[in-house]
Amino acid sequence: MADDQLAQVAAAFSRKATVYDAFGQDHANLARMRQKVYDQLARWTPAGSHILELNAGTGLDAVALITRGYRVHATDLAPGMVAEMGRKQAALALNGRLTLQQCSFTELDQVQDGPFEAVFSNFGGLNCVAELTAVTRHLPQLLRPGAVLTWVVMPPVCPWELLRWPQDWRTATRRLRRGGVRAQVEGVSFQTYYFTPGQVRRALGPAFKLLELRGLSIVTPPADNDQFARRHPRLFARLARLDDRLSRWPWLNQIGDFFILTARYEPI
Ligand SMILES: C[S@@+](CC[C@H](N)C(=O)[O-])C[C@H]1O[C@@H](n2cnc3c(N)ncnc32)[C@H](O)[C@@H]1O
Repeated sequence: MADDQLAQVAAAFSRKATVYDAFGQDHANLARMRQKVYDQLARWTPAGSHILELNAGTGLDAVALITRGYRVHATDLAPGMVAEMGRKQAALALNGRLTLQQCSFTELDQVQDGPFEAVFSNFGGLNCVAELTAVTRHLPQLLRPGAVLTWVVMPPVCPWELLRWPQDWRTATRRLRRGGVRAQVEGVSFQTYYFTPGQVRRALGPAFKLLELRGLSIVTPPADNDQFARRHPRLFARLARLDDRLSRWPWLNQIGDFFILTARYEPI
């Protein structure tokens, strides 16, 4: 991963860190999506497991998973994000169940505290890397046999965004562009890339057996839309029920704002 991309991502998300959690407050859509992720993770990952979290951001998920009985080693590239996690670690009684490390997921050979029973990445952090093999190459050294991987990744097809064609064709087509697209976070731009579940599975290789694949927000708005659920609560509730029903269907489980892919590490 090019150094300037890493530097830009780190700068962008460090600036974002202090306002990141506020965006998620009173955001029913985002809260629903996080709950779906936790449900799928918990379905396959035994309570008490030691989880390696990649691109952990401000530690919202790490804290939520600790309250569900897991131990978490939370890593992120951006110093500002790691500082936010440090504040939560100091303020909350987590009984030593949260450890932190500033680390790029392209340098997982630097990770301390392994081996782990699970590896988790939420809400598109992995979409900041051009080649997923830069991440997957170190997993065998970090994971116990039987470890569960839960990755939440942004795919190229998001129906809600496609519906913005033709008025806002840039947003409608952004995920479909070859070579990714520039994203702007807090005035800093960096490249983002969109992956199909097939591309994720190829990067993981045959030692990872697929357990579950679900689309997330196929017919509900994307995570950055914090208004729709507030303005149209009944329609949102209906769409959310439909989304739940569609999320496992073949083909539909590959599209949406994200997909949640769960696989088990079974080395031969
Ligand atoms: C959209 S945020 C998601 C944060 C968190 N997982 C959540 O669900 O709220 C993306 C995160 O990915 C992190 N990230 C991006 N590239 C990374 C890399 N190469 N290594 C580690 N973290 C990275 C960013 O610093 C940022 O915290």
